[in-house]
Amino acid sequence: MDDLQTWKARRRAVILAHNYQPPEIQDLADHQGDSLDLSLLAARTDAPVIVFCGVHFMAETAALLAPGRAVLLPDLRAGCSLADTVTAADVRSLRAMHPRAAVVAYINTSAAVKAESDVCVTSANALRVVSSLPEEEIIFIPDRNLGQYLAGGTAKQVITWDGNCRAHNEVRVDEVRTARREHPGAFIMVHPEVSPEVAAQADLVTGTGGMVRQARQRPECEFVVGTEAGLVYRLRKENPDKRFHLLSPSLWCPTMKYTTPSGIVSALRDLAPRVEVPPEVAGRARQALDRMLELTEG
Ligand code: 13P
Repeated sequence: MDDLQTWKARRRAVILAHNYQPPEIQDLADHQGDSLDLSLLAARTDAPVIVFCGVHFMAETAALLAPGRAVLLPDLRAGCSLADTVTAADVRSLRAMHPRAAVVAYINTSAAVKAESDVCVTSANALRVVSSLPEEEIIFIPDRNLGQYLAGGTAKQVITWDGNCRAHNEVRVDEVRTARREHPGAFIMVHPEVSPEVAAQADLVTGTGGMVRQARQRPECEFVVGTEAGLVYRLRKENPDKRFHLLSPSLWCPTMKYTTPSGIVSALRDLAPRVEVPPEVAGRARQALDRMLELTEG
């Protein structure tokens, strides 16, 4: 009875996996995607149990968007060091310092931080959502590199926070130059969490969902991938006739790799660990997510 499919059927569960998950988890998931895809899937599913294969803020987002469902995160150690750089108290201080600014929270934040924010964004919709806000001034938390990317891509004045994703922030400009020399015909795409200096050397800055589409649609047969290594497995699997190179060995997120098939079986059997958001936070955090979904779809 420890079989994953048996427990999954018994719980009528859906398994969602982020693009950075290990290959064996990507292969067993019902749906795979970027942060925005997974938020939309969580909001729309009618499965009573969601197994979230990703990190804690993603499971929390699913819990906010799928009230009444049990959202399971197989290993609670799966955190996000970027999300941990900012607290709800930090957001309140920023607001006091810049009272006219809208607070825009990257989805890589805790529910408590989302609750203090006006709207959320993901890498897939950040430019669109920020451009559509009436405020001229934006406080963007917590990723400084993505904030600078937004400042360059919109007419907004962006106040940034000193957070970054270790994996993306450690990519160096010389690694892009080396990749271009070693793979002269390749299309180089990087995530907006890389530094502005690295982004300036790439052919395209886009989130993981954008990279999936580019790999499918572009005429090039070779790509250099400037995001977490897990995505390369998906790109190779979906495009067996094309070649993909990881831009830097630093592009590795240890907490994304905590999910295991046996962890999923235990989570389904025990209906734990379950991620829940306290009601005093959930209502306001959900408003920031709902506003993001309205501005994305509208
Ligand atoms: P995407 O939304 O582009 O998949 O990025 C998720 C993430 O956590 C990046 O660090």
